[in-house]
Amino acid sequence: MQAADQLSVLGADAVTTYRRDGYFLAPGLLPADDLAGLRAAVSGILADDSPRRIMERDGTTVRSVYGPHQTDPGVARVCERRELAGAAVELLGESVYIHQSKINVKAAFVGDQWEWHQDYIYWLEDDGIREPHLVNVAVFLDEVNEFNGPLTFVPGSHDEGVLAATDKDGLPLGYEDAPEWVSTLTADEKHRVRHEVIAELAGNSGLVSPKGPAGSVLFFHPNILHASSPNISPFGRTTLIVVYNRISNPATNTTNPRPEFLAARDVTPVVISQP
Ligand code: SIN
Ligand code: MN
Repeated sequence: MQAADQLSVLGADAVTTYRRDGYFLAPGLLPADDLAGLRAAVSGILADDSPRRIMERDGTTVRSVYGPHQTDPGVARVCERRELAGAAVELLGESVYIHQSKINVKAAFVGDQWEWHQDYIYWLEDDGIREPHLVNVAVFLDEVNEFNGPLTFVPGSHDEGVLAATDKDGLPLGYEDAPEWVSTLTADEKHRVRHEVIAELAGNSGLVSPKGPAGSVLFFHPNILHASSPNISPFGRTTLIVVYNRISNPATNTTNPRPEFLAARDVTPVVISQP
């Protein structure tokens, strides 16, 4: 195990803030050359016409591409950087592997919403990950501002555990013949948190939308209640999200596992690279 204190990227105050609020924004944390490399890789990643790619409801705009760290060596290298993986170790207190990664495009004018949800219920129910000892590491590849559909959180809601959710049956328009796991990836959330639960939590704690320049890194807890609105603006909001998990907390669903690009079974610890 790599000791978290040897890898300190965020510092003790940031870790305390993350544990209290369920998120932490580090503006401009990613080195400029890594940011440039990721931005240059995006068009090739989006061109991958495979089940990894999920389209918006219009059927022509890419919404997400899953597992880019498995297909693009440049993305894989950035996922090993201390600013991402080292920070994940610092937050989780143990060596980590990558459970999932994705590029969320949120294209100018047409990028659709993400309904209110928590992430961990998917990783618990679909993948059999027994504890919420994961962290989302979202790298802003564009500036995120109030216009282009920033992630919105209820601060502190990660402490509520898994909230009451209603399951939505059926597959979304355009995906009627797709495998069941597709229902977890489109603009229609499968596990929806009830509106009265959201209203009560947001009434008590308010809402926040962390914003910042490209290269900022936003860490958020798998149980934080979150959503994002459509991108009505002319500004793209492409984000790389890497989900790190403690190596002692692997996926256990072996009877009906989701594809490797959604739920890794390879739990090889990330070897953290220095600049
Ligand atoms: C978003 O990209 O706005 C949502 C990502 C998420 O729900 O994890
Ligand atoms: Mn989410």
